[in-house]
Amino acid sequence: MTAAPFLELDGIHTHYGASHVLHGVSFTVGAGETVCLMGRNGMGKTTTLRSILGLTPPSRGSVRIEGKDVRPMAPHQIVRLGIAFVPENRGIFPTLSVRENLMMAARPGRGGRLDWTFGRIIDTFPRLGERLSNMGNQLSGGEQQMLTIGRALMTNPDLLILDEATEGLAPLIRKEIWSVIRAIKATGIASLVVDKDVKALLSISDRAIIMVKGRIVHDGPAAELAANPETHVKYLGV
Ligand SMILES: Nc1ncnc2c1ncn2[C@@H]1O[C@H](COP(=O)(O)OP(=O)(O)OP(=O)(O)O)[C@@H](O)[C@H]1O
Ligand SMILES: [Mg+2]
Repeated sequence: MTAAPFLELDGIHTHYGASHVLHGVSFTVGAGETVCLMGRNGMGKTTTLRSILGLTPPSRGSVRIEGKDVRPMAPHQIVRLGIAFVPENRGIFPTLSVRENLMMAARPGRGGRLDWTFGRIIDTFPRLGERLSNMGNQLSGGEQQMLTIGRALMTNPDLLILDEATEGLAPLIRKEIWSVIRAIKATGIASLVVDKDVKALLSISDRAIIMVKGRIVHDGPAAELAANPETHVKYLGV
């Protein structure tokens, strides 16, 4: 591949007020690639995702999508470049039904792509199909998470960004979420996944990145890291 990577971070520094959190973060996500970003609590993973989306814009460095610098852009403009974000605290509308939550998010992807339709989402998440007229706030945590991912897919993204999608969920539901992420990967959508489940992350990812105190300390093939656990034990403790 000679084209620019879909997403490219180049030496970004990000602050919250006077607090300097990211110290020159650089990595790429290629088209269709699944990349996981790992690190202990408070290391800057969410801040990295917020920096990409323009929610907490970096003070230095650049974020490029298909070679285009998005730093001057607003979050609503950045997501129009083909990015869908599933935040830590789930972005569903509690007083709208499952059907309404999905329909509100529907839009074609870039170039008018309409791979993900309401019907396909329901096929992918049969549980949501059984809850179509339930309100967002009547769903279990796992169903809410599936609805959040379903909403993200309704935007027909090129890149899906997931922050702690399995956090706080029962083991069986977690397994279901991982298999959905695997299915999404198989459709060719790129993903940038943050989670605490190292084993699951390494099994679904092409590449793994480890972050310590706002810096990237490891970036390489996930299979290589899975085969050399001393590296992730050193940085993650697991
Ligand atoms: N809104 C904020 N204002 C000030 N400091 C913040 C804010 N959000 C995060 N921080 C600080 O920035 C650092 C990185 O936080 P961040 O949320 O990016 O970490 P994380 O790797 O996502 O952690 P976790 O695994 O707990 O989700 C932490 O020291 C945190 O306290
Ligand atoms: Mg976080």
